[in-house]
Amino acid sequence: MIRLESLKEARRSTAADLAHQQCIRPACGRTYELTATPQRCDDCGALLDVVYDWEHLPVPDRLALFDERRASSRDPLDYSGVWRFRELIPFADLDKVLTIGEGQTQLRRTDGVGAYVGLAPGRLFLQYEGLNPSGSFKDNGMTGAFTHARMVGAKFAACASTGNTSASLAVFAGISGLLKAVVFVGSGKIAYGKLSQALDYGAATLQIDGDFDDAMRQVQEVCLQTNLYLMNSLNPFRLEGQKAIMYRVLEGLGWEVPDWIVVPGGNLGNSSAFGKAFAELLHLGLIDRVPRVAIINSTGADTLTRLVNGHGLRWNGGDVDDAAVDAFYAQMDAENRKAHTLASAIEINRPVNLDKALRTLEMTDGVVRAVPDEAILDAKAQVGAHGFGCEPASAASVAGARLLREQGVIGRDERVVCILTGHLLKDPHATVGYHSFAPEKLKEEFGGYGVNEARHANRPIAVRDDIEDILRVVRNL
Ligand code: F0G
Repeated sequence: MIRLESLKEARRSTAADLAHQQCIRPACGRTYELTATPQRCDDCGALLDVVYDWEHLPVPDRLALFDERRASSRDPLDYSGVWRFRELIPFADLDKVLTIGEGQTQLRRTDGVGAYVGLAPGRLFLQYEGLNPSGSFKDNGMTGAFTHARMVGAKFAACASTGNTSASLAVFAGISGLLKAVVFVGSGKIAYGKLSQALDYGAATLQIDGDFDDAMRQVQEVCLQTNLYLMNSLNPFRLEGQKAIMYRVLEGLGWEVPDWIVVPGGNLGNSSAFGKAFAELLHLGLIDRVPRVAIINSTGADTLTRLVNGHGLRWNGGDVDDAAVDAFYAQMDAENRKAHTLASAIEINRPVNLDKALRTLEMTDGVVRAVPDEAILDAKAQVGAHGFGCEPASAASVAGARLLREQGVIGRDERVVCILTGHLLKDPHATVGYHSFAPEKLKEEFGGYGVNEARHANRPIAVRDDIEDILRVVRNL
């Protein structure tokens, strides 16, 4: 049996030669050095992957070997929920790894939410990524990107964000002091919890007069014209870190593969990373099948759903119908159609990782659905009532699982993992509004998003400062 500690020693001598970056389109396939920082392939404009020479890298022969790391968590690399799987993310020399203790998250069986989704007891699991240091799954990826930023000596880093990437970038920059963070956010477009993080952690915060899609376009241009290092999920090293979410899901299930992974889709970084994680585990013989991945949009930001379900867009072995995508975006612009959803984290109409998400769908026999904001907020209240809670975008996964159950796509006895991407406290306005607004106020504030009813509202109870009144309320609870 290979011990992990001996692997660690072996890794030290090998790192840089056994990984490179590569264009994901097989027809191009151009390679780049590990320390290069192109945003996309210089030749064909496609996305890039980090690719490993697995045959020459030491990898354990069973996933269960990673269990020993949990017992030795005094080592920061073992404590990290990302780097304790370092043999599966072997792009960095270990002394370059920058970790802030990300990935201490939990997979919880939640029968109450399972019943709401329509699953048999013991079949629904929630992966609480809101328990990360910055309160969202982004920290899994940010440790990867910061490690790479350290490898290339970056002094400034930038991202566009609907809020969580900026919070994560800001906290990593603040703790490490490695570089200065510059974040681009759509003015008035991000939830207060997230904006407060970027400001408090000291990031230069550019509020662009536009939405995420505008900010994303601008940040790419700024990074091209300056020496800013791009921290969005276009950066393949971000996605390397996010693979670890899937390793922890498998770990939480005793290294068994679930039937479904259900994940909200915004810029499509997570779904892209998950597909890569499973493709690699399968290649390495560490799993014998892959789960199906369901990507869930909000109906107010449903580019992927429209392209896949409406236009039949597919990865097609890497031969994506780019003309169909271009025509779709041209039409969107002609209609001036902007993303519009209360799930502000996924209020994105031009997902940069579209190609990689299509690849995930193909390799996992995945599906795509869009759910309305009303269903998202109802599902969110159910998650809250049975667990640690989540922000609206995260609950799209639960609402999506419920829809797929109703449609008979997911079976009642299948094992389903919904990824809860962000913490409840990120967006107090959505939560407090849902639970406390009177019907007219709810329509006024949220009606424009199609939210007209709060079926699972837990209303605060107004009571006079009078002991008799208070006792009457308490006795009637
Ligand atoms: N859930 C939350 C809480 C998010 O913050 C995001 C993305 C997503 C889901 C979607 O994930 O982009 O990988 O498909 N937030 C990004 C940001 C865009 O800027 O924080 P994805």
